[in-house]
Amino acid sequence: MATPAPAPVPEPPLPPPGTPLGEIRYTVTATVPVDREWLKRHRLITGVEEDPVLEAYKLLRTQILQRTRGEQKNLLMVTGPQPGEGKTLTAVNLALSLSREVDKTVLLVDADLRNPTVHTCFGLRPAFGLVDYLQGTKAIPELLLHPEGFPRFVLLPGGRPVAEAAELVSSPMMAALVQELKNFYPDRYVIFDLPPLLTYADALAFAPLADGIILVVEQGRTTREDLGRALQLLKDFPILGTVLNKVPETPSRSYEEAAGRREENGRWWHRLRRRLSAA
Ligand SMILES: Nc1ncnc2c1ncn2[C@@H]1O[C@H](COP(=O)(O)OP(=O)(O)O)[C@@H](O)[C@H]1O
Ligand SMILES: [Mg+2]
Repeated sequence: MATPAPAPVPEPPLPPPGTPLGEIRYTVTATVPVDREWLKRHRLITGVEEDPVLEAYKLLRTQILQRTRGEQKNLLMVTGPQPGEGKTLTAVNLALSLSREVDKTVLLVDADLRNPTVHTCFGLRPAFGLVDYLQGTKAIPELLLHPEGFPRFVLLPGGRPVAEAAELVSSPMMAALVQELKNFYPDRYVIFDLPPLLTYADALAFAPLADGIILVVEQGRTTREDLGRALQLLKDFPILGTVLNKVPETPSRSYEEAAGRREENGRWWHRLRRRLSAA
């Protein structure tokens, strides 16, 4: 069956001229309706899915909360070695999972300006995004979207794809935006979704701005060499966690089987790490 095209996003109401970033409230952020079936089809966690998936993201959320607690480490970036390994889906579901913590709000920024897809995960088709801010034609409050039914979650889409993504992502304007977001929202997590590390310069150029990095690798696809190269490139930056994506799941399996599978995956991961450290 053909997948229907994402819905166009209605023009957001404009904030009053001169509205500082710190005063952004849901009143000036466009609330957009989302189709729950679309979200499910695109594997977004909506709170009703099978336990293992929800639990996996809760575990990641807990690790992030523990590793950022007490310090102002609220600006995170998600990347991985190659395209298609699940960076965007991980960024979206981590953001949604964090926003379910009662005292946390989350801003998810699509900083993959070559191939912005975060809005597609929500079935949205916004006319503008981060690229328009970085090119000086839009203000941030005009660009923020609040998908209906996700309290404490706001999205800054990427906008139309551009070739000069690395330049924009490493521009002084981006650095200033990051500082502004960080300082205005000390109790908010800001999560940036970046392009693949080994294919483009963008993610490495952005790394110095982030308080923590989440590295996504795909089981059975990410090679040892690629993971090694990614870790080497990021060796001077804080990696908060590594996500092993697309581990095969059998929803009906028993707790014992699940524990066994985790063991197996753990061993796979350890073997990989041992080989890496021995290299
Ligand atoms: N754990 C998973 N299980 C099944 N499909 C997945 C999983 N993670 C990602 N995908 C799918 O794989 C494709 C690529 O994922 P995406 O997050 O866009 O990758 P990236 O951002 O690394 O290029 C998407 O269609 C996504 O829905
Ligand atoms: Mg992506």
